[in-house]
Amino acid sequence: MEIGQCPLAASSTERKIIVSATTLVVVAHPEPRSFTGSWAHASIAASEKSGHTVLLSDLVTDRFNPVESALCYATNSDPLFDPLKAQEQAAAAGELPADVAAEMQKIIVADRIIVHFPIWWFGPPAILKGWLDRCLVHGGLHTVDQRFDAGQCRSKKVLFCVSTGATEVECSMNGKEGNLDMLLWPLAYTFRYLGFEVLQPQAVHGVHGYFEGAEEAALQGKLAKVLDDHTAVIAQFDKQPLMAFNADTDFDDAGRLKTDAISHSAFIRHSD
Ligand SMILES: Cc1cc2nc3c(=O)[nH]c(=O)nc-3n(C[C@H](O)[C@H](O)[C@H](O)COP(=O)(O)O)c2cc1C
Repeated sequence: MEIGQCPLAASSTERKIIVSATTLVVVAHPEPRSFTGSWAHASIAASEKSGHTVLLSDLVTDRFNPVESALCYATNSDPLFDPLKAQEQAAAAGELPADVAAEMQKIIVADRIIVHFPIWWFGPPAILKGWLDRCLVHGGLHTVDQRFDAGQCRSKKVLFCVSTGATEVECSMNGKEGNLDMLLWPLAYTFRYLGFEVLQPQAVHGVHGYFEGAEEAALQGKLAKVLDDHTAVIAQFDKQPLMAFNADTDFDDAGRLKTDAISHSAFIRHSD
């Protein structure tokens, strides 16, 4: 929680007010009664219990438009649509599309973002990718000079709560479905680009509707436990382990990882 000076108390007693911190919960799933939806609800309840003000972006329910295009911009007059320039010009003119402006404002006021989604085709659902494409506004939330270690969102943290249909073994380092940590790396690095600290993801595996009998009962028991335990996860949010990324100083002027810098990911590594 942040402690803020009460502006009304300037010349009288030194009163202070408690300004509650804010969590933005983002959900990318078409069914509120799904496990993903229930888990997001648990994040909302646990965050409120921790004293946070909670904002919600339920992308499918909100019918968020994930397709960045010239049609989104009322005043785009360039014959060639350049998304980065369109975002930058609209941000500077205060003419961002209304849905994007509202989402960006939520990101700005949020101290934490908790993103809930299933893995669909080895990545997040398209609507979540589109939310990033449109709402992480160039010229609004990042510039060439304000990214990575100098990112505007340096004081913020993000957590991914993700489910997979595949088993834990299949999502591990040598698993057939690909290592989940690697599948999530582009999403994590997107937030890192903005300056966020990224918590180690919370992942639940083997979630699908094709079990029967005892296997189905076991799955429901496992999912119920995840929801029960989630209050404690959120209560310990600031103590949860973080993903490691290279610092800006780990790269040379050409943007190459320096030979003496540690590699934290297969995505940025030393040549063999
Ligand atoms: C379009 C689509 C693609 C999917 N692709 C994957 C995948 O690549 N890997 C995987 O483990 N599960 C995949 N699944 C299964 C979902 O991850 C799984 O059903 C979901 O995590 C269950 O959570 P829910 O009940 O909240 O939907 C896919 C499901 C759908 C609908």
